[in-house]
Amino acid sequence: MKLVVTGGLGFIGSNFIRQVVDDDSFSKVVNIDALHYGSDPRNLAELHGNARYEFIRGDIANPGFVRRHVRSADAVVNFAAESHVDRSIAGPAPFVRSNIIGAYNVLEAVRENGVGMLIQVSTDEVYGSAEAGEAFDEGSMLNPSNPYAATKASAEALAMSYHKTYGTRTVVTRCSNNFGPYQFPEKLIPKTIIRALKGMKVPVYGKGVQSRSWIYVLDHVEALKRVLLKGRPGEVYNIAAWSEMTNRDLVERVLSLMGKDGDLIENVEDRPGHDRRYSIDASKIRRDLGWRPKHEFDEALRETVDWYLNNRSWWRPLATRSALHEAPWKLRRG
Ligand SMILES: NC(=O)c1ccc[n+]([C@@H]2O[C@H](COP(=O)([O-])OP(=O)(O)OC[C@H]3O[C@@H](n4cnc5c(N)ncnc54)[C@H](O)[C@@H]3O)[C@@H](O)[C@H]2O)c1
Repeated sequence: MKLVVTGGLGFIGSNFIRQVVDDDSFSKVVNIDALHYGSDPRNLAELHGNARYEFIRGDIANPGFVRRHVRSADAVVNFAAESHVDRSIAGPAPFVRSNIIGAYNVLEAVRENGVGMLIQVSTDEVYGSAEAGEAFDEGSMLNPSNPYAATKASAEALAMSYHKTYGTRTVVTRCSNNFGPYQFPEKLIPKTIIRALKGMKVPVYGKGVQSRSWIYVLDHVEALKRVLLKGRPGEVYNIAAWSEMTNRDLVERVLSLMGKDGDLIENVEDRPGHDRRYSIDASKIRRDLGWRPKHEFDEALRETVDWYLNNRSWWRPLATRSALHEAPWKLRRG
């Protein structure tokens, strides 16, 4: 199976490619990435020279480019997206471009060429905030609260409409918050680790009471592999692992793994439109595809903290003032 992966030099895409490139289910993996700020060629440097891997720099917002490179694919996994909520508040335009126009171009190329499977990689944020005790399943209403989530919901809606209208073989996955190696320093866990290492205060939005459900990136990657090989076109699969925790609790756990004190935490102005709680029911993928998360949360968090401690040369050039900013939605973006 020739697999085209978009956004494969970002956090989840690079972890995904590392897991599939030597899997005999896939004869070739082509990685299309525009090399936007969150990507890094070093993430897959070890694949340089691997005959089963090819990197092509390009933008999925360019329809001709996408058509050319999707033509011969057997399957496509669309990770490519602008992915940071705070940046989408500062400037939604790049999100509309990559996440909606880009996804549309990928869908068109998949439809025109009768590609066997497209996974549109989406997020639990499309459901919006859950009440206490509530967990959204795949049939729940979408109610996105910020421009990032709204663009992801739009792309999903297009993907599902292509299945219903044209019979295009699309699947949507909605995953909870990921953590693990190679995550860009602006995201909560790496930002906490890096700021603490630099002796800076660690910002927590508002009172830190928002709660999120966390999954180790390699469990997400395994779920996507399962969906690719066994998922049914036209279906949506929620993907989640552990019980949730508040942002404050998570930051305290990270600091404690680093031997640092909770006094480093600083409550800062809350993100506008900040969803209070994300919670999804992932029983469908467990039941229908037999996927289970394999990594235990505390152990995976420890490994992640260790990875950042041991890979300072990876994050140092990426840990700019804007990446580590305490209120990034206030930074002007195009
Ligand atoms: N990180 C999470 O917790 C999480 C959870 C659920 C779903 N997702 C989804 O998973 C996907 C990957 O997320 P991530 O955290 O790895 O993001 P990331 O920002 O680390 O990576 C995104 C990659 O997409 C590329 N890209 C962006 N726009 C592009 C374009 N127009 N053309 C080609 N490449 C482009 C970037 O260069 C980057 O390499 C996204 O679709 C995101 O919505 C992420």
